Amino acid sequence: MLDPKSPQSLAISNLFIATLIISGVIFAIVAGLVIYIAIRFRGREGQAEPKQVFGQTRLEVGWTLGPLLLLGVIFVFTAQGTSNANPSEGTNVAPPNGKADLVVVGHQWWWEIGYPSAGITTANEIHLPTGKSFFAQLTAADVIHDLWIPAIGPKMDMLPAKINTLTLEADQTGTYLGACAEYCGAEHGKMLVRAIVQPQAEYDAWLNGQRQPAQARPTAADALKGQQLFQSKTCISCHAINGTGANAQVGPNLTHFAGRTTIATIMNNDQANLTAWLKDPQSIKPGAYMPNLQLSDGDVASLVAYLQTLK
Ligand code: CUA
Repeated sequence: MLDPKSPQSLAISNLFIATLIISGVIFAIVAGLVIYIAIRFRGREGQAEPKQVFGQTRLEVGWTLGPLLLLGVIFVFTAQGTSNANPSEGTNVAPPNGKADLVVVGHQWWWEIGYPSAGITTANEIHLPTGKSFFAQLTAADVIHDLWIPAIGPKMDMLPAKINTLTLEADQTGTYLGACAEYCGAEHGKMLVRAIVQPQAEYDAWLNGQRQPAQARPTAADALKGQQLFQSKTCISCHAINGTGANAQVGPNLTHFAGRTTIATIMNNDQANLTAWLKDPQSIKPGAYMPNLQLSDGDVASLVAYLQTLK
């Protein structure tokens, strides 16, 4: 939040700093006066009772109007800041070009990320081109979640059966970390998200890659065995891999799984972590909907080999 990378997060950061300065000055004045008065006017031995004063219209008007004025200023800053932080604010606002650029659906405990005009669905990592303002629609599949990527925007609730809108934009390339900001069950704390901001050309290449279906049949023997396991074990009843006949929408779409940087939103996508995850997802993310399938080490290795072909 203090290192803004978009006009939206800059608006929040500016609002925070302005409010902090105003509050800081008031605090310094009040605390300073309290300390000064406590020392200057403290009771001394043999001193007479101080003069008792009741009612002071001018002072009272002053200390009522002063804070009122200050709060008025903060109110204007806040109204401006909130509106700049999310220009597309408003429930069920229609996207300007007919289609949203991005649709993010919160699930227990992962993110479904769709690019409707490109017709693709991915998970957990939001790719954005630099300097483009994306109109995002946010909703939830089960309970209330909240998308929050502090460097590029405000928090926005994701409500089941309702659509909230959010402008997502980033000025600088990079990977920006975020998290679910609304308690959504046991693994709320392990519901992380990242925005990967790329130059336009790189983003276009990524988007094109995502449009391609997965290879129908892997060539390497272990990967081929992994694919058969994927289709014969219960994997296929939850996950889609476009181009292979697997099209369930319960869990994350795995078509380009190997191109993602994370697994289950919390671990680096590498062979060791993927092996650990398939072996016993419940030990890593207890309560997650991915069950422990009691796979043998050999089956896990084949599935890992297969999933790693899904570039
Ligand atoms: Cu999803 Cu908290």
